[in-house]
Amino acid sequence: MSRLLDVNAIESGYGRSRVLFGVTLHVDDGESVALVGRNGMGKTTTIRTILGLCRATAGRVTFAGDDVTHRAPYRIARHGIGIVPEGRQVFPALTVRENLIATAANYGGAASPWTVRDVFDLFPRLAERAAALGIQLSGGEQQMLAIGRALMLNPRLMILDEATEGLAPIVRDEIWSVLRRLRERGQSVLVVDKHLPALAKLCDRAIVLEKGRTVWTGAPAVLAADTGLHDRYLSV
Ligand SMILES: Nc1ncnc2c1ncn2[C@@H]1O[C@H](COP(=O)(O)OP(=O)(O)OP(=O)(O)O)[C@@H](O)[C@H]1O
Ligand SMILES: [Mg+2]
Repeated sequence: MSRLLDVNAIESGYGRSRVLFGVTLHVDDGESVALVGRNGMGKTTTIRTILGLCRATAGRVTFAGDDVTHRAPYRIARHGIGIVPEGRQVFPALTVRENLIATAANYGGAASPWTVRDVFDLFPRLAERAAALGIQLSGGEQQMLAIGRALMLNPRLMILDEATEGLAPIVRDEIWSVLRRLRERGQSVLVVDKHLPALAKLCDRAIVLEKGRTVWTGAPAVLAADTGLHDRYLSV
């Protein structure tokens, strides 16, 4: 298995306030990896640093063998990282179909790139809502659309930040089942989420952040089952 993303001891933050003090993680081709930790521990900042939206002041981010640490965000995206951001951020004044095609691209030259029809097969609910505007969608539909939009970039790595946050259990389950199907197709994924049992069923590895540092790496099932670990790193 080849190394797709390698994040090595990165430090970063916002202005003069430092938030990350040494985050290390990796994702190999075809892997699903979970990034977890309590609120405010630096998960989103880690993602923003990988994407070039926060500047790394130390450490290195390597993607598909290239050092992308100080590259512009648009160049990193073109390198093959798709993001499903915290809060979804679908285009409110575009229809579902327009949202899917507005930013679609195949920079990596995928042999069979994602089509609108493929996304509709994955999320039949979006097909029913194809002509609805972004603003008219429920939270769950917006989340499905955000995932579909990221897939239309044909990313080598897809990153999801709290994709199941605030959704009804039935919608949440649908998102998890879609992520498992993507995994079967060989899609590499880095997923930030709080639902350990679901992560345990999906992911090869979990990374725990505490106060901007990687403090634990291991099997997500171990994290889900070990109450000591859970209390130490995750319970509020
Ligand atoms: N735009 C910003 N400007 C300044 N500080 C920020 C900014 N965004 C986040 N922070 C701070 O950085 C720290 C880490 O935040 P981050 O959003 O990375 O955490 P998180 O693990 O994603 O948390 P959550 O689970 O709540 O999403 C927090 O202390 C937060 O207050
Ligand atoms: Mg966050």
